[in-house]
Amino acid sequence: MKYQRINNKLFINNRKNLIKQLKPNSIVILNSNDILPTNADGLMPFKQNNDLFYLTGIEQEETILLLFPDSPEERFKEILFIREVNEELILWEGDKLTVKEASDISGIKTVRFLPEFDDILNYLTSDAEHIYLNSNEYKRAAVEVETRDDRFIKKCKAKYPLHYYCRIAPLIYRLRARKSDIEIDLMKKACELTEKGFRRILSFVKPGVTETEVEAEFIHEFIRNNGAPADYEPIIASGIDSCTLHYIKNNKTCKDGDVLLIDFAASYANYNADMTRTIPVNGKLTARQKRVYNAVLRVLKETRKLLKPGARLLKIFEKNRALIEKELIDLGLLKMADIKKQNPDKPLSSKYYPHNVSHFLGLDVHDVGYFDEPLAPGMVLTCEPGIYIREEGFGIRLENNILINQNGNTDLFENIPIEADEIEDLMNSK
Ligand code: GLY
Ligand code: MN
Repeated sequence: MKYQRINNKLFINNRKNLIKQLKPNSIVILNSNDILPTNADGLMPFKQNNDLFYLTGIEQEETILLLFPDSPEERFKEILFIREVNEELILWEGDKLTVKEASDISGIKTVRFLPEFDDILNYLTSDAEHIYLNSNEYKRAAVEVETRDDRFIKKCKAKYPLHYYCRIAPLIYRLRARKSDIEIDLMKKACELTEKGFRRILSFVKPGVTETEVEAEFIHEFIRNNGAPADYEPIIASGIDSCTLHYIKNNKTCKDGDVLLIDFAASYANYNADMTRTIPVNGKLTARQKRVYNAVLRVLKETRKLLKPGARLLKIFEKNRALIEKELIDLGLLKMADIKKQNPDKPLSSKYYPHNVSHFLGLDVHDVGYFDEPLAPGMVLTCEPGIYIREEGFGIRLENNILINQNGNTDLFENIPIEADEIEDLMNSK
């Protein structure tokens, strides 16, 4: 890892908070992600399971966390299992975590090697009533591969069929949705790196640069500051491709008169920022581009006010769509009379605005959380309205990251330029 080690109070507290929610006599088991294959003997880069990371801070593959808070034996209340190294492994992959390092990172006192796992679990299950296991319950998840957790669920249920099985996901999703101070500091750091990247490209973009070069400039800035690109494919979309919501080819030359929509941000210590800015390739928006830009910016500012404790995202989506409808009428793109007659399940505005305004943000870019439950302090959300006018050859999206606090919210992007005039000034002041 390239980031400064995280204070292990974060993981100790996260485990404490999870334990408070368990039924008596429960064992909790979470597995790391697999390292997925590519082709031949190739492997994809390893990405830790975010729930396991949240509870341990461990980024190593083949890690297992076992919690048994009611264990009669103190040493078995929290156990971390890690890979055992041998000379061959060290030769090819370098050192893995030592027992002491794993213990220091996680704050877990009992660290054992993986081959001991089956026997220890067997020993503990006779004292336990419930077994909590993990699965990906994100509503829009479309996962075709079987994860290590999935395989473990089958194996565990086959071996211990008479225990009561419970889901970790609803408990941990609600915890993860509300960030602690340590997490908020890490997210602020991701926002700072994002700002650095954006300021860097403002003096770089001009007609003739390629989308690829813009992507590279951002990545350079993120990595040299010990961060990384946020956990999504960057969107660097000039011209008509600014209307393609998930354009990821990023391979065209940016042209005079076009806008450049950039949906790219940094992560730091696995915590993501998520930024979108739309800028003029030549440093000056046309009158029409600016009108649409300011319409989107007004919607962002009005919607941001709605992000506060007690509000529900599903309601905010409705109010946000009404704000966009008003702007689309003022821009001459829709008529009030038609909106009054529209099918509410298929609003006319979706032609120009086919997505929602917000998602939770954190260890996942589309982070875990519940859209129908009240917002609460510590939650971080995006605010990302857009208007995409394919027939006019451009789309505008703007996206800030918003922290819910006791009184309302704080915009974590308050230092990242967003006013059209400021962006134009910065692009032209070389
Ligand atoms: N930043 C990409 C997304 O929110 O879908
Ligand atoms: Mn987003």
